[in-house]
Amino acid sequence: MPSPLILVNLKSYKEGMGNRAHQITTAAQLIAKESGVTIGIAPTYIDLHPLCHHFTVPIFAQHVDGYEPGAHTGHITADSLRLTGAVGSLVNHSERRLTLADIEGAVRALQAQKLVAVVCTNNEMTSAAAAALAPEYVAIEPPELIGSGVSVSKANPEIIRRSVSLVHAVNPKTKVLTGAGIQTGECVKIAVDLGTDGVLLASSVVKAQDPGAVLRDLVSKL
Ligand code: G3P
Repeated sequence: MPSPLILVNLKSYKEGMGNRAHQITTAAQLIAKESGVTIGIAPTYIDLHPLCHHFTVPIFAQHVDGYEPGAHTGHITADSLRLTGAVGSLVNHSERRLTLADIEGAVRALQAQKLVAVVCTNNEMTSAAAAALAPEYVAIEPPELIGSGVSVSKANPEIIRRSVSLVHAVNPKTKVLTGAGIQTGECVKIAVDLGTDGVLLASSVVKAQDPGAVLRDLVSKL
């Protein structure tokens, strides 16, 4: 995945489902093309297949279970993500916490399908622990800033700096994203200048009246 990556998690916001998911992804595809910056979208499961079918920007799931295909009900397997055209999945988001064993299972299941694992973490130590599982990305997001409108880049640059350093000490190949409260191009630039490979964000794009204008601003300083 080329860096920097702007990964937009549509969560379960009603402003991020159905037609709105298509509108946001249309804007993301246009702005990614104009700017040359990679913009990924993580929609609900229901929107995964249509978005993968209609767009070329990378589409991620918000969660995956580390199960083999078989007699499981209500689970999402990495095989099904690959078949639908997704490029990878978030794992262990603050709003979908997993046990360490589940995280490892999900990362292995994704990698077995050649999909990208983005393991979300809440502090420096969990970021280092996640890096030991060798995912493609660790995304450090202080939970208290998620959805707050206060950017981690400005409120807590130290957690970004320390996470980058710890993750790379454990696994130099794992890339680092950061998120929580990211809203502007300035937030993205600070994050990248601190050594990350991009950002993971949600509300500032999903809930915006004009998501395209926010996306355009997000890539403006790269
Ligand atoms: O997954 C992204 C996320 O948790 C950050 O959310 O709304 O603070 O950008 P938000």
